[in-house]
Amino acid sequence: MTVDAPTPPPATSSRRKRVLSGIRPTGALHVGNLLGALDSWVAMQDEYDCFFTIVDWHALTTDYASPGAVRQNVSDMALDLLAAGISPDRSTLFIQSDIKEHAELHLLLSMIVPLGWLLRVPTYKEQLRELSGRDLETYGFLGYPVLQAADILAYRADAVPVGEDQVAHLELTREIVRRFNSIYGSVFPEPEAKLRAVARLPGVDGRKMSKSYGNAIALAEDLSQARRRIATMVTDPARKRRSDPGEPTACPVFPFHKALSSPEQIAWVEQGCRTAGIGCLECKSVMADNLVARLEPLQARRREFAARPDTVRQILDEGARRARDIAAGTLEEVRKAMGLA
Ligand code: TRP
Ligand code: SF4
Repeated sequence: MTVDAPTPPPATSSRRKRVLSGIRPTGALHVGNLLGALDSWVAMQDEYDCFFTIVDWHALTTDYASPGAVRQNVSDMALDLLAAGISPDRSTLFIQSDIKEHAELHLLLSMIVPLGWLLRVPTYKEQLRELSGRDLETYGFLGYPVLQAADILAYRADAVPVGEDQVAHLELTREIVRRFNSIYGSVFPEPEAKLRAVARLPGVDGRKMSKSYGNAIALAEDLSQARRRIATMVTDPARKRRSDPGEPTACPVFPFHKALSSPEQIAWVEQGCRTAGIGCLECKSVMADNLVARLEPLQARRREFAARPDTVRQILDEGARRARDIAAGTLEEVRKAMGLA
């Protein structure tokens, strides 16, 4: 009697490249996050070995005075990510603080990170200025990019999908890797930044979409309210009357068309706007239809997950288990390299 041998792994064990990215649970995700970051994360799931983490410790570096809000935001974020299509069968989704190895690696890396490197990170001074309402002259806030490096290096990620604003943090991570490897031997690969192709979306007031500006359309927003807010959205300021021709590239509505509409619709907007052949309300209502069509199934999935909190907890626990397995292995090597038992 013959028994089928189990299929052996491919000879040149083609390990898929590993990707890690983190998202701060500081508020509800919005359409800008969806079209900018989440869609690209979702698309990466088949090609890469993906790790996505909700970085609650990072949220505490700025929001340490509102722990209740951070906890609520972590749950909301998990729902948003699952609704957007992060699939626990293909990706590892976990909460940062479930993996204590990030904290240990953060501590160990902090031994070799010169203060000057941290003081020079452009986002540091910028955020100190922007978030002037809170006291951010803290040790934890200065060390934020070292914690981010620990998130990435605990998994020896090959690539990190990020926006433009995170490039300096990635560069710092790479500098830390070079310094670590030159002192202790080659333990970490240098992770590569994978910049996203989509430009940042504007908010309904024309400034960049941001929850803190109150101009964002949340993923979970009531859809008739979303339509109303789009109807009153800022347009090309040069187009005051219906008979004035407009310029799509000067209009905050147009980037939404580029992200959501068909090529035919985009051509219709460009031509109709420049010749005053279409009105702004007409233009916006096509965009709103496309946005609603995009959000409807997402919101339905979100409601399904929200009704099954035990399932969500299981997904996050299983993600933590897989993440911990890998992070524990890395930390073993790091301890050995640094002379710890
Ligand atoms: N600093 C990132 C941000 O503010 C969030 C983040 C934390 C992150 N750890 C990470 C991003 C690791 C990529 C990889 O958006
Ligand atoms: Fe903007 Fe569309 Fe109005 Fe042109 S027609 S100004 S693209 S809303």
